[in-house]
Amino acid sequence: MFSAALHALPSSLAHATRPGLWHAATWHGIGQRASHTSAQPAPTTGTPEMPPALHLIWRDEADTAAFAQRLAAQPAVRHAFIELRGELGAGKTTFVRHLLRALGITGRIKSPTYAVVEPHQTPDGLAVSHFDFYRFNDPREWADAGFRDVFAAPGLKLAEWPEKAEAMLPTPDLVLRLEVDAHHARAVTLTAPTPIGAQLLTELHP
Ligand SMILES: Nc1ncnc2c1ncn2[C@@H]1O[C@H](COP(=O)(O)OP(=O)(O)OP(=O)(O)O)[C@@H](O)[C@H]1O
Ligand SMILES: [Mg+2]
Repeated sequence: MFSAALHALPSSLAHATRPGLWHAATWHGIGQRASHTSAQPAPTTGTPEMPPALHLIWRDEADTAAFAQRLAAQPAVRHAFIELRGELGAGKTTFVRHLLRALGITGRIKSPTYAVVEPHQTPDGLAVSHFDFYRFNDPREWADAGFRDVFAAPGLKLAEWPEKAEAMLPTPDLVLRLEVDAHHARAVTLTAPTPIGAQLLTELHP
């Protein structure tokens, strides 16, 4: 299952593909980036334990919403810790909002930029904690604000700007890295550092 690097595709082709279009590539592991620059096919090294990274394009928010619905439908998401990585304006909060909506949460969904965390609960009782660590710079806050307890408790955890609290955070189950491409679409890379994430990623493969 070889897949040419996305950017090696003519942009018309890359953007003619509709959501949910998955590009399997090799497993790169946490912290490493998939190469988008080579025209060579990526080697296929995914294993049953460690599925390959997924690359997809969200051309607009409808694509973001469609993916959020697919993810929300996976039972394993209820126990997952998901990191959202990407620059300011990459679309992290937008994705979280669509995921929370897909999980049945209604009403206003505030960005946790100032509060660092916004707690939510789905109609069927799932606790969801949405973190934004952009302004997190005092490690003492971790214990003082009860974040340790949040991570020890069941439920879904979502974190924007996890790199700002790297030392405190557990290993994520799923990492979504978002980049704005030349067409203002979102190029998304998903990796799964844990078995829960691997299960999610496997289910999300077409
Ligand atoms: N898939 C998408 N297609 C087009 N526009 C998008 C998409 N996702 C998000 N946007 C737009 O990008 C802008 C910034 O999105 P968002 O606030 O989600 O970014 P963010 O990554 O959370 O930024 P920050 O790091 O500041 O928290 C919003 O105006 C949003 O509508
Ligand atoms: Mg945000």
